[in-house]
Amino acid sequence: VREETDMSLKSPKAFFAPLAVGAPQPLREIPARPSRAIHFFDPSNPKMVDKIPQMVGTVDVLLGNLEDAVKADKKIDARNGLIEIAKNTDFGPTQLWTRINSLDSPWVLDDLNELIPAIGQKLDVVMVPKVQGPEDIHYIDRILAQLEAKAGITKPILVHAILETARGVAEVEAIALASPRMQGISLGPADLAADRKMKTTRVGGGHPGYLVRQDAPKGADGTADIHAARAIFQQDLWHYTIAKMVDACAAAGIYPYYGPFGDITDVVACEDQFRNAFLLGCVGTWSLHPKQIEIANRVFSPSVEDIKHARRVVAAMGDGTGAVMLDGKMEDDASLKQCLVLVKLAEELAA
Ligand code: GLV
Ligand code: MG
Repeated sequence: VREETDMSLKSPKAFFAPLAVGAPQPLREIPARPSRAIHFFDPSNPKMVDKIPQMVGTVDVLLGNLEDAVKADKKIDARNGLIEIAKNTDFGPTQLWTRINSLDSPWVLDDLNELIPAIGQKLDVVMVPKVQGPEDIHYIDRILAQLEAKAGITKPILVHAILETARGVAEVEAIALASPRMQGISLGPADLAADRKMKTTRVGGGHPGYLVRQDAPKGADGTADIHAARAIFQQDLWHYTIAKMVDACAAAGIYPYYGPFGDITDVVACEDQFRNAFLLGCVGTWSLHPKQIEIANRVFSPSVEDIKHARRVVAAMGDGTGAVMLDGKMEDDASLKQCLVLVKLAEELAA
């Protein structure tokens, strides 16, 4: 039963507690913990493992990856390596996540059976790849519940799904709502491109062939002059899926994330892709290289100017109702809510 909100108590804070009477509500809001960059490392790779202790505190999430990019004959080394690192490292403010193998692989059950009793107490989130529908999340949820009970783990381990199959995209709303453990969903552009038979071999980002060209001017004979110079705008291959995922996550009260950006050298295009995701509602992204952590931390934090502006609107809006003019622009109850999104994010990141 939803508590009714007294409309007279419309302080800015009230917008985050139950909204106005009759307003649609997210099912719940899981505690916000910064997760702007989820930095992937291969626990079977000693060079990467050696760097982990120095990265604690510089990144919101360290994720020991057991799935793709770990060779089949290194799967057990990776699992054991993760147990070793987790036992020997104080992660302080940095969260520890793992990406387990997919449900259609021979390793996933052993991943959970080995990891949860050994380091379940330290694991914040289990990322599940290639999720096809809510039944995959139910399966992981039940196994986690049993293993937590057996190991006496009282803090539930959360679950994060990767959206990387066509069926998963079709079921994204049901996946987001599949369990109270659901923490968030990431886009997996490489697997998703393959599964959909998209004709791109890139991992995330734009594609030069996916474009919109300005109309051609007319030539002397009245037909299109195809030799005239025209502006070309490259389009975002991932816009539709990210927007769909953001809606599903917002409706379920969980967090949406962009995923991998494969061209490590193109830090500029990486930043553009991350920023588009941030503007569309994502709270974070993956990092495949330490360079990408700095980009993600910057892009997924509101800028000083954005926070300044948002705070000005909050102050100008007084009790939060009505309309005011600020710098020639109209602000009202709705634009106040937009500003509060940024103010709240700034507060969460500063906490
Ligand atoms: C990530 O796992 C991807 O497939 O893009
Ligand atoms: Mg994948």
